Amino acid sequence: MNNNNIYPIFDKTLQREDREQMLNQKSKVLWFTGLSGSGKSTLAIALERELAKRGLLCYLLDGDNIRTGINNNLGFSTEDRKENIRRIAEVAKLFADCGVITVAAFISPTNQIREMAKSIIGEDNFLEVFISTPLEECERRDIKGLYKKARKGEIKDFTGISSPFEAPENPFLNIDTTGKDIKECIDIILESVLSKVSI
Ligand code: ADX
Repeated sequence: MNNNNIYPIFDKTLQREDREQMLNQKSKVLWFTGLSGSGKSTLAIALERELAKRGLLCYLLDGDNIRTGINNNLGFSTEDRKENIRRIAEVAKLFADCGVITVAAFISPTNQIREMAKSIIGEDNFLEVFISTPLEECERRDIKGLYKKARKGEIKDFTGISSPFEAPENPFLNIDTTGKDIKECIDIILESVLSKVSI
């Protein structure tokens, strides 16, 4: 595609720092990765509420608003997952540029896929939060009943069963939710994140 006639207007717009000042916060992208059922969305929702209590504006990107909307044409092949994460990273980048603390909660199963997200968002803005609840625990919970179906072969390419999940090598945070309640997990996240998003 020829993009020669596209003229970026970013030099004429307000800067991200201006918007961060307006909101009295620094924007970051908190990138939650982990297996289905590991607790990503649950923790992301609780985190949004805790940040709001402190006057911090946060927006949550997860399967509910992304895979039903902008990415509703994508499935779970390697290529589709990559495109899913590419678009999400581009959207997260725009939100962060808006000054908003952005939480993205997606399996994002491979190092390569997460590296792509990081390079789109920018290393300084990207905080990787690995929700490391092990497969056995996710499968025991099986909140959506998907592991059972995947074991029966009714869902193909299911992460952790018939499609790979690679643990992040050097995450900003690593939280195994096994035996912890939501508050304990959120306290761990807040302790590390508040200083990153406060002015
Ligand atoms: S990702 O791999 O592309 O990052 P994403 O987080 O958007 O995945 O979607 C994962 C959610 O989709 C799961 O929590 C589950 O509810 C549902 N899902 C449906 N099919 C699959 C599958 N084959 N593998 C993993 N999750 C699936």
